[in-house]
Amino acid sequence: MITSMKITAASLLAGASAVNTSLSLVPASSVSQSHVPQFVSYSFEPAFWVEFFGEPDAPRNLTYTLLNHLHERGARPIIRAGGITMDSMIFDPSQKTSVVRTENSKGGIYRTTIGPAFYRSWDNFPEGTTFVSTLNFGNNSVPIARDLALASYNLQKDKIIHYELGNEPTNYPTSRWQGSTKAYVDQWLSFVNQINSALGGNRTGHSSGKWWASSATTDITPLKVRPADLIPAGINNTGQVSQYSIHSYAFATCEPARERLATIPNILNHTDLLRYADDEIYPSAKLTMQQKGEWVIGEFNSIACSGKPGVSDSFAQALWTADVELIYAVRNATSVHLHQGATLVFQSNQQLNTPGDDGTPGFSSYSLLYPINSTKRGEARVLPVFVSQLLVVEALSDGGRIAALKTPRGVAEREFSAYVIVDAAGTRVTKIVALNLKLYYAGQQKQRGEVVLDLGAHRGATVKRMTAPSVDEKDAAKVTWAGQSFKNGVAVGQVAEESLEARGKLSVRDSEAVLLTFE
Ligand SMILES: *[C@@H]1O[C@H](CO)[C@@H](O)[C@H](O)[C@H]1NC(C)=O
Ligand SMILES: *[C@@H]1O[C@H](CO)[C@@H](O)[C@H](O)[C@H]1NC(C)=O
Ligand SMILES: *[C@@H]1O[C@H](CO)[C@@H](O)[C@H](O)[C@H]1NC(C)=O
Ligand SMILES: *[C@@H]1O[C@H](CO)[C@@H](O)[C@H](O)[C@H]1NC(C)=O
Ligand SMILES: *[C@@H]1O[C@H](CO)[C@@H](O)[C@H](O)[C@H]1NC(C)=O
Ligand SMILES: *[C@@H]1O[C@H](CO)[C@@H](O)[C@H](O)[C@H]1NC(C)=O
Ligand SMILES: *[C@@H]1O[C@H](CO)[C@@H](O)[C@H](O)[C@H]1NC(C)=O
Ligand SMILES: *[C@@H]1O[C@H](CO)[C@@H](O)[C@H](O)[C@H]1NC(C)=O
Repeated sequence: MITSMKITAASLLAGASAVNTSLSLVPASSVSQSHVPQFVSYSFEPAFWVEFFGEPDAPRNLTYTLLNHLHERGARPIIRAGGITMDSMIFDPSQKTSVVRTENSKGGIYRTTIGPAFYRSWDNFPEGTTFVSTLNFGNNSVPIARDLALASYNLQKDKIIHYELGNEPTNYPTSRWQGSTKAYVDQWLSFVNQINSALGGNRTGHSSGKWWASSATTDITPLKVRPADLIPAGINNTGQVSQYSIHSYAFATCEPARERLATIPNILNHTDLLRYADDEIYPSAKLTMQQKGEWVIGEFNSIACSGKPGVSDSFAQALWTADVELIYAVRNATSVHLHQGATLVFQSNQQLNTPGDDGTPGFSSYSLLYPINSTKRGEARVLPVFVSQLLVVEALSDGGRIAALKTPRGVAEREFSAYVIVDAAGTRVTKIVALNLKLYYAGQQKQRGEVVLDLGAHRGATVKRMTAPSVDEKDAAKVTWAGQSFKNGVAVGQVAEESLEARGKLSVRDSEAVLLTFE
């Protein structure tokens, strides 16, 4: 049982009327499953693999340095080499380099050819990293998909945890399955069976029972292939599905109408993030859990079609990512794969983002980093979002189970989010995360507000803070987790753990988050 405990939250806005209210530590939602070290995971667009990871004998240091920070904290992210470009990916055993993109003059990628080096580069990842072997379904060719599966199996079978056939089938031409869920399921199973046979037989082969299914977006499309549609259609009748993967993008810059909505106030409206998770994702998630199956957010980020500069490359993205990952942790996602990549010209003809003028990658502004110097994004560097990954990894470490807390009285649900974390056995409160999502912009005249959590007298606790000068801060050198910044990958500064002041009061300023760990 979780001990009932009261925390007082006093909103002490300068000049504004102070609100004293209590935050009950009795969970306001169910308590989640015990989380695994794979919870914080990633998806990398395969066409840009070399920009992020380099070649086997020339690794790109910056991206690995970030992954190492997570491993040092006990996390074991799963890497999905996935995204739209996996659906035009082919394997060429004679190709010397990892990736060759075949593009039109505007940077539209119509083929991504990978060689054995692509798989060999997996050896450069921190010990214990596992991968999703992604296969092309877009070309509608068993040999293309099978050859990718075989190459990954021959070169890296010990590192493959799941296979995935096709990315976002909801976006394929309607002519492929005429909107028929059954036609999709039949073809998916036929490919899977043939690939299982190629990898050693469909009951005993390496890929048997290891398939991600669905990989659908939440967009309304004629083809309905979310898990809630696929499960009744028999996708797992032969036991091939290891996990259901759902893609989550609540905002987009794919066309002007949605671009106008992709603002800092909108992406940080906690009430709306809950609405999206509960309406668009949870019905499928619930059905998988009723079957005792696992589900993952196989690809997600804040703003589809490569983000929005000024929003997703600012500290707002750190607050968004921390809150959304915890929202899905409460709802029992086994892992959440934050997507990394660059602008894809064929995704939309009205989108905000473009590649570099010379056809070089226009890196997505929602990524953890700009991995190399580029004409479009300037110097290689880490973006403000990175610190959110440290917060979530530390919050859910050691098999933590998480529940949402009720919004304290006097604070708006839209602007405040808090979670309690209990140990794996579910008996002891170990941590609290509080995110004050009220917006504080650079140059704002008003003094920065705060919510003060009163923790009472005797509970010893340490506090780590995720903060920045303002919600729209774009310089990662000014964005810190427990006092450290990571702009060039390496931690700058000493770890600053606060202890509660004598009266047990903890201030969480507007646009700031804290992780409190009880001793
Ligand atoms: C908040 O509550 C504490 C404890 O009850 C009390 O001492 C304090 O005066 C209250 N502050 C406000 C602004 O009401
Ligand atoms: C998550 O799983 C736990 C069991 O581990 C269950 O009690 C809880 O209801 C689930 N949460 C949701 C939101 O489905
Ligand atoms: C990678 O970067 C880290 C941190 O800057 C440095 O210690 C290490 O030597 C670098 N490794 C290589 C291979 O450049
Ligand atoms: C795969 O499909 C794409 C898009 O339809 C096409 O441009 C490409 O030529 C195809 N590749 C192969 C090898 O068939
Ligand atoms: C095994 O694979 C073959 C195709 O190679 C397929 O015809 C058969 O239905 C599969 N068996 C099962 C049980 O899935
Ligand atoms: C926040 O989101 C909720 C739920 O979608 C919506 O009703 C509300 O209007 C939004 N608030 C603001 C200020 O945008
Ligand atoms: C698919 O079926 C197999 C065999 O019944 C089962 O072990 C597995 O959990 C199911 N997968 C999911 C995601 O429900
Ligand atoms: C990237 O840009 C920085 C700053 O302009 C420069 O110092 C560095 O040498 C560049 N790196 C490469 C690999 O070109």
